Amino acid sequence: MSMSSSLLSSTTTTTTTAIHCNTSNAAFFSSSSSSSSSSFVSCQFHSTSISFNSLTSSCRRIRINPNHLKVLKKKLKVKCCSIGIVEPLKVMISGAPASGKGTQCELIVKKFGLVHISTGDLLRAEVSSGTEIGNKAKEYMDSGSLVPDEIVTAMVTTRISGEDAKEKGWLLDGYPRSLEQAESLERINLRPDIYIVLDVPDEILIDRCIGRRLDPVTGKIYHLKNLPPETEEIRARLITRSDDTKEKVKSRLETFKNNAEAISSTYMDILKKIDGSRPKEVVFEEIVSFLLQVQKAKEKVSLLRKSVVKSNVKVSSMGQDNWRGIPTRLNNIPHSREIRKYFYDDVLYATQRAVADGKTLLKVEINIPELNPEMDVYRIGTLMELVRVLALSFADDGKRVKVCVQGSMGEGALAGMPLQLAGTRKILEFMDWGDYGALGTFIAIGSIGSKEVDAQDDVFILVAPQNAVGNCIIDDLKAMTDAAGTRPVVLINPRLKLWD
Ligand code: AP5
Repeated sequence: MSMSSSLLSSTTTTTTTAIHCNTSNAAFFSSSSSSSSSSFVSCQFHSTSISFNSLTSSCRRIRINPNHLKVLKKKLKVKCCSIGIVEPLKVMISGAPASGKGTQCELIVKKFGLVHISTGDLLRAEVSSGTEIGNKAKEYMDSGSLVPDEIVTAMVTTRISGEDAKEKGWLLDGYPRSLEQAESLERINLRPDIYIVLDVPDEILIDRCIGRRLDPVTGKIYHLKNLPPETEEIRARLITRSDDTKEKVKSRLETFKNNAEAISSTYMDILKKIDGSRPKEVVFEEIVSFLLQVQKAKEKVSLLRKSVVKSNVKVSSMGQDNWRGIPTRLNNIPHSREIRKYFYDDVLYATQRAVADGKTLLKVEINIPELNPEMDVYRIGTLMELVRVLALSFADDGKRVKVCVQGSMGEGALAGMPLQLAGTRKILEFMDWGDYGALGTFIAIGSIGSKEVDAQDDVFILVAPQNAVGNCIIDDLKAMTDAAGTRPVVLINPRLKLWD
């Protein structure tokens, strides 16, 4: 595998977003976990004109890869309809048998109005109606093992694509339970906003299963000791689940443990582990606070989309005669602040949008002398200002951003300046990061490599301007994007030619 393709594949499999500055341009892309569903837009900043990285800009200014035109058109339609509308919540809840998933789902549905999709409930309904699926599933359920994927996956995908789930949002309970099931969802780009895992010690789980009783009339879950039925009448009609014996619980627990890690790694970036051994109200309170955070973030994204569309409409309505061109190849005088801001904003919208929409693969080429390392006017300051604009914007959204520059390059550090940008880290440290002390709180500066990836980091901006052919930084970059998992990675590099 070539160096460039190895990096590309690392981004496609880890759902990273990357910015990549090429020899004479800057390229921005985000990739989804499934490369086949990605679309690709290329927008160029020509010598006498500037063009926006907008899906709605005029075709004259956008060069669209013909292979992706159809996908893109489809996406355009979807985007237009959803502008301004906050997408409903998509929640997954997981945990060992009797960790309290069903109990919490009851409460979540009441508060957030989501459509509850429980594979356990769907299967039990099939069993009690004696359907073909139910008859097949019964023997697996009775033995405490997993029902074959093809049965469960078909049930889930049908239910989740229902109009009610699309409209109200969904709460998926008990699915996925194996890596294969998680991969099935990834393949169809079905990703939750949050993956909640209820964590409860084994001895409590066993006690909860043995004491659990179900009300066949209301569907309410009781526990003989912890949550006894309200009346004698209810008590008299309670039933025990056939898989709630001590032996079967142990086998279900074993199955859960064998699969838990593989599934969690798929959702590492959105995983919230909650101590489920506390009273159900306390557990619920914590879940609510996470869901409210997610809801707020979704509202922000929707607002951002709205503002991107607005600004793009403004730009695309300007005639060619009014177009503000960026002067190129003039001399070594830096571009005016206004023009720099113009291009930073442009890049910012592209990046924000790419991060918000995991499906869009986006490349923006900027051809201005200041960012062309082959010209003697190349300006590291312009690149660092761009880094600051991006980092502060993510920090404003409450994200923890790690800005990383390549580590020491030893003796060759001065060769080929300014491409290698020796001293970049110091420049970043000395830069003005705003009045509210973002540096050290929401923004941290580090170097490139997997060691720098901490659990609390939300976004990574890698300034890795090294020539991939000379001193190779690809291995460190790849290790870092792998370690980042599905968290966005913005790569800024004037020399890596991923797309050529
Ligand atoms: P499923 O019904 O999903 O069973 P499970 O995952 O084993 O989970 P449980 O329903 O047992 O527990 P829960 O976490 O919902 O806890 P609950 O809230 O009820 O699946 C059953 C079977 O279907 C599987 O074994 C498998 O065969 C098959 N299946 C399902 N999905 C599948 C898939 N994707 N692929 C293949 N096969 C699949 O609480 C338990 C008890 O604890 C209750 O009595 C409750 O009152 C009590 N309790 C809850 N919270 C608390 C608390 N905080 N404090 C004290 N008590 C509490």
